[in-house]
Amino acid sequence: MTDSGPETNPPGTLDGTGKPVLEIDSLTKAFGGIQAIDGVSLTVNDGEILGIVGPNGAGKTVLINMVSGFYRPTSGSIRFNGQKIDGLPLHKVGRLGIARTFQNIRLFNRMTALENVLTAIKQHTTHPILAALAFAPSRQGIDEAMELLDLMGLTARANQGAGELPYGDARRLEIARALATKPKLLLLDEPAAGMNEQETGELIEDIRKVRNRLDAIALIEHDMTLIRALSDRIIAMNYGKIVAEGSSKEVLSHPEVVEAYLGTDEEEDG
Ligand SMILES: Nc1ncnc2c1ncn2[C@@H]1O[C@H](COP(=O)(O)OP(=O)(O)OP(=O)(O)O)[C@@H](O)[C@H]1O
Ligand SMILES: [Mg+2]
Repeated sequence: MTDSGPETNPPGTLDGTGKPVLEIDSLTKAFGGIQAIDGVSLTVNDGEILGIVGPNGAGKTVLINMVSGFYRPTSGSIRFNGQKIDGLPLHKVGRLGIARTFQNIRLFNRMTALENVLTAIKQHTTHPILAALAFAPSRQGIDEAMELLDLMGLTARANQGAGELPYGDARRLEIARALATKPKLLLLDEPAAGMNEQETGELIEDIRKVRNRLDAIALIEHDMTLIRALSDRIIAMNYGKIVAEGSSKEVLSHPEVVEAYLGTDEEEDG
C-alpha cells in the first residue's frame, strides 16, 4: 500500500527472524466455473500474525485449505520454509509443521477433551486413523495434553465429552488439538465464530499466550476486535483476490474493504 500511516497495531511480542515462513505465489483454485482463488501471492514471516479478512465467499477458507493440503491448487506455488508443499497430501503437510483449525468445529464428540488432544499428539507420530483407534496414551502424552488443555483454560474440562462442551470451549479445544502436533505455522479459520464479546476477549489472551510456541500464525476472522488486537499485518480478500494489504488501520479503512464489508459489523475506525 502506498499512503502508509503510522503503525497502529500493538504487534504483541514479535521476536521472530522476519524471514518468510510461508510463500504463496500466483495461486489459483477453480471449482468448475468458479474461480475461488484468482492469483493470490502473499508471505507470512517468522514471528508474525497475519490477519486475513474479507466478506463471505472471498476465498479465505479455500486459501488455507490449499496451504494445509486439503485442496490441490489449480496453479501457482506454495512454499513452506523454502520447500514446495503445493500438492503434498494432508499428513505430509502436517508433519512439516503446519496445523489448522476448522471454521466448522471438528472434534471427536464422543471422546473427552483430553482424549481429543491425545489423538492429535499421536496423529503426529503414527497414521491418523490408527492413532484414533489404538489408544494407549503414555504418561508423557497425558502430561503434554494436560499442559495444552491448561494453556487454553480447559483443565476443568479434561474429562468432559467434547460434544458437551460450550461453544467457546470447543473452539479452544480445537486450538489445543492443533498445537498438539507442535506446528511451526498455525492456521486459524474463524476461531471467534459464535463467541460473545467476553469469550472473544479471552480468546485474544489465549492466542497471545500460544504465539511464542509458533513461528507464525495466519488468522482468518470476521471479528474485527480480534483482528485488530492480534494482527501484525492484514490482508483483505474479495472474489478470490487480495484487495488490500498493510496495517489494520490501513486495510480496514481501505475503500474496497469498507465497500466489501458494508452492512456487516465493521465500523468507522478513526
Ligand atoms: N469444495 C468446493 N466446491 C465448489 N466451490 C467451492 C468449494 N469450496 C469453496 N467453494 C467456493 O469458493 C468460494 C470461496 O469460498 P470460501 O469458503 O473460501 O470463502 P470464505 O472467504 O472462507 O467465506 P466465509 O467467510 O463465508 O467462510 C465460494 O464461492 C465458495 O462457494
Ligand atoms: Mg471460510
